[in-house]
Amino acid sequence: MNVKEKRIVVTGAAGFIGSNLTDSLLEKGAEVVGIDNLFNGRLENLDEAFKHNKFEFHKGDIRDLNFLLNVFEGIDIVYHLAAFTSVPQSVIMPENCNDINVNGVLNVLNAARRMDVEKIIYASSSSVYGDTPTLPKREDMRRLPISPYGVAKLACEAYMQVYHQVYGLKTTSLRYFNVFGPRQKDSTFSGVIAIWLGNIIRNENLIIFGDGKISRDFTYIKDVIQANLLVTKHDVSGEIFNIGAGSPINLTKLAKIMLKITNREHLKIIYKDPRPGDIIHSYADISKANRLLKFEPEYNQENGLKEYFKWYDDKYGTNLI
Ligand SMILES: NC(=O)c1ccc[n+]([C@@H]2O[C@H](COP(=O)([O-])OP(=O)(O)OC[C@H]3O[C@@H](n4cnc5c(N)ncnc54)[C@H](O)[C@@H]3O)[C@@H](O)[C@H]2O)c1
Repeated sequence: MNVKEKRIVVTGAAGFIGSNLTDSLLEKGAEVVGIDNLFNGRLENLDEAFKHNKFEFHKGDIRDLNFLLNVFEGIDIVYHLAAFTSVPQSVIMPENCNDINVNGVLNVLNAARRMDVEKIIYASSSSVYGDTPTLPKREDMRRLPISPYGVAKLACEAYMQVYHQVYGLKTTSLRYFNVFGPRQKDSTFSGVIAIWLGNIIRNENLIIFGDGKISRDFTYIKDVIQANLLVTKHDVSGEIFNIGAGSPINLTKLAKIMLKITNREHLKIIYKDPRPGDIIHSYADISKANRLLKFEPEYNQENGLKEYFKWYDDKYGTNLI
């Protein structure tokens, strides 16, 4: 399926990944209907999209079935990204997380079924693996989430598969691994790259919880978008894919690269006590996505960071690079 001329819903369109996906779909000639309740998203993320005559935006909540039924009229594909996205917050308020990330997803599936949507592509997460020691993470290995957020993502992957098997909806889940790039928020609960970027701009030292050996498969946003677009081109209904860079990096090395690229090597890296519940190592085996989707990451952490910082300088007039 080519996205050109297709009518596509992006839920969570005003968020970090949803807004980048929206821009790419519009660029490829799709008609995009963005929905978001603006709980965490920002309309300014859609500034580019609003310039486009093939874009429309509806403010609303995925927990409102009637809202979804209206918006899904005549839709071919739904990218479902709207979510309660903070892992630590999900520990504090598991009911809210479940309400949005499980009940909300069921609503999306039921509305899609009733309105004859052809395909649903779901934003899952590496958090479904929890802290199992086996590396890299493969899709068929045991999943042991250690947060309500991870449980909800795992439940919804199962719902995606069941709605494919039982009702014939073409569903696919993508397990993202630590995404970074333009429009990611610098807040207490956001990814470490966005937090450190905020520190660098304010000329503050970078803080690492633990000894810095924690590693992650930081994945540049454009590779995540690439994977989302590839799903429309292949018949991979009922499947689940890891989407990562496939190259882990530890936090000390990452911090040093960020300080070097931005020429801020006078700033220090401060080590604090590890945080309970933090997963130690995580990285993706992406061979399944490579085999079935022809997914090949184009960015490593260093060139992804350079492109991100350049975008930041252009947009906010900072002097990072
Ligand atoms: N950023 C990552 O590293 C990462 C990693 C794994 C998975 N994911 C998943 O990718 C998706 C997008 O994440 P993101 O980083 O862009 O987060 P984000 O918070 O920037 O985007 C989520 C969007 O969903 C919206 N939203 C929240 N609740 C809603 C509701 N009830 N109804 C309608 N809209 C609602 C928010 O306002 C926000 O704009 C999420 O499903 C997230 O769980 C992200």
